[in-house]
Amino acid sequence: MSERRIAILSDIHGNRPAFEEVVNDIRQQDVDAVIVAGDLVGRGPEGTRIVERVAALQWPSIRGNHEDYLLGFVRRQVPDAWWNLDEWSASRWMAAELSSDAVRFIERLPETMTPAFAPGMHVVHGSTRSNTEGLGPWTDDDYLGEELKRGGHPLLVCGHTHRAMVKPLPQGTVANIGSVGLPFNEDQRAQYGVFTLRDGQWHTELRQVTYDLDDAFRAYQQTGFWRAGGVTAQLLALELHYATPFLVPFLRWAHDRKQRPIPEHIDLFLQDFYPHERMARFNGMRGFLE
Ligand SMILES: [Fe+2]
Repeated sequence: MSERRIAILSDIHGNRPAFEEVVNDIRQQDVDAVIVAGDLVGRGPEGTRIVERVAALQWPSIRGNHEDYLLGFVRRQVPDAWWNLDEWSASRWMAAELSSDAVRFIERLPETMTPAFAPGMHVVHGSTRSNTEGLGPWTDDDYLGEELKRGGHPLLVCGHTHRAMVKPLPQGTVANIGSVGLPFNEDQRAQYGVFTLRDGQWHTELRQVTYDLDDAFRAYQQTGFWRAGGVTAQLLALELHYATPFLVPFLRWAHDRKQRPIPEHIDLFLQDFYPHERMARFNGMRGFLE
């Protein structure tokens, strides 16, 4: 079979500037097809815009857990508390932001994909079991081997954890392509993967693309997400800036310490949660939030 090149991106999370730079980078890669492995929306302000762009580009996509979360809000199938609690205001805003066309688009997305144009490849958002289960550098080889077996192909491509990795195993290769719009591997750049089929073998290249982070923060402000999103928008901005998780650790911390998850408690959380030497790297954080 002749050489084939496929770009796969995931976890865009409504981050337009990151997405557009990846689109530009993909144009230089001479690929035959592009696949989106879910989480086009959620955790960011421009979900509808991303869905419109992916639909116009006709890039086949699968559904991530954040498509499911926002569809839950759109269909009013979420717990009552989520309509009132401050920490869910960002999700309410993001669900309301979705156009009816965008909702129809994400409703129709399949859970997984075994593309005919990419023989030997299986694409999932999280794992073969669920779009909320993550495969990351911490997942042991036996489990990854089982996942490859369940996927039924020598290459299993996933996203969801926002941490890129390539893991070659006797059974095949698991490739996590990381995140376009919200990486958690302490590399702010937009990340995705290019897969080349040569002599019957897939070769993986993880790519990192610089984009204008200030443009992403401006989108937070200009869309109204910053104001409506409250504590969640602030923690997401920290995640963008430091490319490491803040939102879920903050919510867990607030729950464990019986603190209300409000913006006024972010400082306390940072002092409590992050070890001293790591905090030193986060100096100037307050200024950044204001
Ligand atoms: Fe994600």
